[in-house]
Amino acid sequence: MGKMICTECNREYSLEEKIWKCACGGLLDIDFQPHFPIDKIRQRKPTMWRYREAIPISEDQNIISFGEGFTPLIPVEFGGKIVWMKQDHLFPTGSYKDRGASVLISKVKELGIQNVVEDSSGNAGCAIAAYSAQAQIKCQIFVPQDTSPGKLAQIQLSGAQLNKIPGSREDTGRAALKAAAKDYYASHSWNPFFFQGTKTFAFEVCEQLGWRSPDSIVVPVGNGTLLLGAYIGFQELLKAGIIQRVPRIMGVQSAHCAPLYRAFKEGLREIPKIDPQNTLAEGIAIAEPIRGRQILEAVKESRGDFIAVDDSEIKKSLRDLCKKGFYIEPTSAATTAGLSKYLQVPNADEIVVSVLTGHGLKATEKMLKILPEVNQGATI
Ligand SMILES: Cc1ncc(COP(=O)(O)O)c(C=O)c1O
Ligand SMILES: [Zn+2]
Repeated sequence: MGKMICTECNREYSLEEKIWKCACGGLLDIDFQPHFPIDKIRQRKPTMWRYREAIPISEDQNIISFGEGFTPLIPVEFGGKIVWMKQDHLFPTGSYKDRGASVLISKVKELGIQNVVEDSSGNAGCAIAAYSAQAQIKCQIFVPQDTSPGKLAQIQLSGAQLNKIPGSREDTGRAALKAAAKDYYASHSWNPFFFQGTKTFAFEVCEQLGWRSPDSIVVPVGNGTLLLGAYIGFQELLKAGIIQRVPRIMGVQSAHCAPLYRAFKEGLREIPKIDPQNTLAEGIAIAEPIRGRQILEAVKESRGDFIAVDDSEIKKSLRDLCKKGFYIEPTSAATTAGLSKYLQVPNADEIVVSVLTGHGLKATEKMLKILPEVNQGATI
């Protein structure tokens, strides 16, 4: 029933092994044959688990779920054009990371693991902490010191042990890796089971569009958990003959921390060293994306591109979205700022899907801080 394969040395492992990387240190991918019994799927509850035969968890009794997913996909007008907006800020912990956490922690339960470690800019930590709480699994979360206080409260109140790490996001990653020498690393970027959850984004979008693929998707990208998950999902639907093509994937980065954007524009295969600056988009401020090469290949293969947006564009988009009634966190406004840029190139009949990834209530301090500027339009 599927296997894990090393992306460096091609070594294969059973899905029942308690590992998250290859013995050679390489990243693991999952090779699994999904099935899409569409008539059955249609009759099931509106959650991401309606695609049960496409998710590599053996026993139903191991599923850790809050009934998440199948978030609304609604038409929203952007500069005179209609975009289909997936409302993934409406997940139980307030971000799309619940897709990955539900599948990964279900797998952790299936493997009989009692302790997990995760590092995050905040939202993945919130999700792993909540699903670990339901599974009664001990959880340690590492976050950068300046993570939004709302996310810190959420992690701690879920019963996880919180470790605030001074320095960069990469310093936080290194601290978690050290702890993962002892406990299982439930990492959203390393662990391949996380992507088996985020791929349900593609399934839902296609089903909600009447089992067809959009022409393009505009998604945020830091470590690429949504971007790569969506790519895997669309590929699986293509192989199953359900859709005829994979959409163009547009990845949005913060201009203050845009290693993938730079690599793509300069035609590099490896991720360049960058000097990241502070950005409002804390969720996508990843200077060294572990799956960087895979992300570049996925975007290239889909005939997509990268878009970079600066903090003033993020603020402007945040104001616009909030005024439409979508209360999202600044990281999500980076996506919509990128979307507005993308739509400047006219393509009348194109079906465009984008996504709201995180709820505004998670970042109240940041929202209050930028409120005066947004009201006065000072830096906008
Ligand atoms: C709200 C929000 N949007 C988008 C992302 C980007 O996810 P990734 O780094 O996996 O590309 C994150 C990651 O933390 C996030 O919190
Ligand atoms: Zn290997």
